[in-house]
Amino acid sequence: MPTHSKQQAPVSDRRAIIIDTDPGQDDAVAILLALASPELDVLGITAVAGNVPLALTELNTRKICELAGRPDAKVFAGASEPIARKLVTAEHVHGKTGLDGPTLPEPTMPLQDQHAVDFIVETVLDRDAGEVTLCALGPLTNVAQALEKEPAIAERLAEIVLMGGGFFEGGNITPAAEFNIYVDPEAAKIVFNSGVKLTVMPLDVTHKALTSRDRVEAFRSPGTRPGIATAELLDFFERYDEAKYGTNGGPLHDPNVIVWLLEPEIYSGRQINVEIETDSPLTRGMTVADWWRVTDRAENCFFVRDLDDQRFFDILTQRIARL
Ligand code: BDR
Ligand code: CA
Repeated sequence: MPTHSKQQAPVSDRRAIIIDTDPGQDDAVAILLALASPELDVLGITAVAGNVPLALTELNTRKICELAGRPDAKVFAGASEPIARKLVTAEHVHGKTGLDGPTLPEPTMPLQDQHAVDFIVETVLDRDAGEVTLCALGPLTNVAQALEKEPAIAERLAEIVLMGGGFFEGGNITPAAEFNIYVDPEAAKIVFNSGVKLTVMPLDVTHKALTSRDRVEAFRSPGTRPGIATAELLDFFERYDEAKYGTNGGPLHDPNVIVWLLEPEIYSGRQINVEIETDSPLTRGMTVADWWRVTDRAENCFFVRDLDDQRFFDILTQRIARL
């Protein structure tokens, strides 16, 4: 009887995803994980302005695809500015390039001509309803613009899984707001109100996915280029949050979105209502999470709060070692 090893899952068994991203060291690790995972069919990767401007996020995305040995991956550039505001970037966290740490060669794979928003719309319309999952690792500008441009995609998407927000942990760019939501709160509002099935990885869970010296060395130890580069990315990335939070290691935010697709059972959370603050200058971008269900506002997302962090790092190290 034929058996399918995990390495050779037939195309039909694979989950079709689009990754929307602003690399960013933690975005890079998420992309490497997705490209290393035979259960996932990465239809395309769309870049958005966020951690650094768009010209760098699309370049960084191509660098990471080549690092993964996947120059055939399709990379699209999207929004260079949030919907209604000036772009805020995070070079203080990610370095000038957005990917400070390893020295990665200039990519030779092309950037696709199509705009990221058009790629998202066209792909979701072309595929069967319920087939495509959107994985959002940066500000939600591209995702929101796709939903605005073609509202019919809301019903056709399987789900959106996103890294963003924070409630019990507060914010990381202001006391109230997490970076991805803060940069484009109008976009976040559109996504949270879209009716699409939504899973949210807020700081409340990503701050529990902490690197440590052993965990970083485990990426390096197979001696592969992607493994060594991952360790170098994390060596750089940790320093900011270690100083800020006084921890021994930094939170690895974005890979949670991909690990959720692979092993959701290592996470726990609640189906709740989350509203996005867009008006107040003090709390712009806050994710007001009705964790205790004290309102009758309709549930609009699964808000994750806990994970098995050791299993999270085991999955990441095992998968990235395969590249
Ligand atoms: C999020 O902001 C970015 O700096 C990271 O890449 C992550 O997506 C964490 O707040
Ligand atoms: Ca990101």
